[in-house]
Amino acid sequence: MDALNLFDLEVQARAHLSPSTWAYYAGGAEDELSVHENRAAWQRIRLRPRILVDCRERRLETLLFQQALSFPLVLAPTSHQRLAHPDGEIATVRAAAAAGILAVLGTGNHFSVEEVAAASDGAPFWFQLYCYEPFSVTAQVVRRAEAAGARALVLTVDACYAPRRESLERSGFRLTSDVRLGNLRGVGLRDDALTAEGGVTPAFLAGLQLSPLGWADIARLRDLSPLPLLLKGVLTAEDALLALAHGIDGLIVSNHGARQIDGTQAAIDALPAIAAAVGGRIPLLVDGGVRRGTDIVKALALGASAVLIGRPYLWGLALAGESGVRFVIEQLRHEFDSALAQLGRPVAANLSRDTVLSKHCVHCGR
Ligand SMILES: Cc1cc2nc3c(=O)[nH]c(=O)nc-3n(C[C@H](O)[C@H](O)[C@H](O)COP(=O)(O)O)c2cc1C
Repeated sequence: MDALNLFDLEVQARAHLSPSTWAYYAGGAEDELSVHENRAAWQRIRLRPRILVDCRERRLETLLFQQALSFPLVLAPTSHQRLAHPDGEIATVRAAAAAGILAVLGTGNHFSVEEVAAASDGAPFWFQLYCYEPFSVTAQVVRRAEAAGARALVLTVDACYAPRRESLERSGFRLTSDVRLGNLRGVGLRDDALTAEGGVTPAFLAGLQLSPLGWADIARLRDLSPLPLLLKGVLTAEDALLALAHGIDGLIVSNHGARQIDGTQAAIDALPAIAAAVGGRIPLLVDGGVRRGTDIVKALALGASAVLIGRPYLWGLALAGESGVRFVIEQLRHEFDSALAQLGRPVAANLSRDTVLSKHCVHCGR
């Protein structure tokens, strides 16, 4: 592929995708202030290189819930990947496995978790959950994910209500009839939820969720499966502490790529306070606007075990299927590796707070 970085790829993907698919993938809530903030926050953080360190050998790998990752990158769950490429989530999981990392499948995927597992030769994956009404639907989805080999469950807690994505509404986005919701078939959901043809929208799907979702449901989910359970969409230390009290195994500090509510801080700016509250008791991951290898360095320095990316691998998927996703992963690996060498910090697992300036953020002062 002919791209020097992930921004080049984004330009190419925009030219390649239909305007409404672009609006669905790229867009954020309302004024998209937080979409911009998600990128700007990484750019405000300043690095502190050490000099004269022998960095000929670098160690990029990390361990997450007993699983070795070749470097600290995870592909975030994104619904409707089939809009980017016919191979959809299968290509994504295969590319992640070939690169020695991990993908998170989503409840809202085209291919069912069983189809992906069958087509990806035992590739490791996590499974992202939305809780649907009634709770028995959720229980069925969890059982299917477990049986198909999911290694962890990720409950998304920041998307219980339909977002206001005006760019999406303007584009007239609807799911087309060749995009299925494979994980929601045969689990007892209302039939009309599965009829993509005729105009299923993200807002319609959000309306099918268990409502209200509360901490009592988290406890029920906790009892449902022995798999590690992560919450995705945590932005405050208070909620991180509640999650710990409810036996949660890991947190994804995230504002959902700024797609749910506009005006939140970027997840990377929320990370330091959450890391301080959690004190290393459970792993923290962070996403939103990760586009450079130096962003991965910054995340690890501020207390994350790994980062996730969403949109960038969709650009790769759209342009070249599995090999396009692989390109995105390798681009970030290369940049991360190079950053470790330049910073005189050859071991990713040893990145500490002193890798970044202590007052990295002019707004939050952390
Ligand atoms: C097209 C698209 C669909 C998404 N669908 C889901 C989803 O179904 N569940 C979920 O938890 N997050 C979803 N997300 C959010 C991502 O998991 C992730 O938090 C976000 O994309 C990270 O920001 P980035 O795109 O700037 O890397 C979606 C994001 C995009 C771009």
